[in-house]
Amino acid sequence: MRHAEWNQVELTVGQLAERSGVAISALHFYERQGLIHSRRTSGNQRRYRRETLRRIALVKIAQRVGIPLAEVRAALDELPNNRMPTRADWERLSQQWHDELELRIKHLEQLRDKFTDCVGCGCLSIDRCRMANPYDELADHGAGPRRLLERSAPKC
Ligand code: FES
Repeated sequence: MRHAEWNQVELTVGQLAERSGVAISALHFYERQGLIHSRRTSGNQRRYRRETLRRIALVKIAQRVGIPLAEVRAALDELPNNRMPTRADWERLSQQWHDELELRIKHLEQLRDKFTDCVGCGCLSIDRCRMANPYDELADHGAGPRRLLERSAPKC
């Protein structure tokens, strides 16, 4: 297979797979999910605009951090289809995700930093639970790891 030339405007599915590092079967899946789009040649072969590589990069990174595909699709749907998205288009997309991403970052930080402490989940299984969640009092605040879920978790 020929590598895509840097100035090639459209890519075959093989070139798209090679450059993106995503298997052809996954690209077809992305297309069925409406995450990427192609046109058909007269010989019924798919051709993808080069900017599809950027969409795929976004999908891959979003998947890595656990953003559901439906949310990714909704975000990508905001990009213009009739022209190549500009930096301003991508910036708008990023801003729409800002709050969601901030929350995810916070949760990832909690996972990294807070799981050595009591998370208020009701297990009462580590020594800190006795102080941080005596008698599982946090159950009164609702289900789940209350010390992680509540923005201003009760200080113990
Ligand atoms: S870690 Fe579960 S209640 Fe403390």
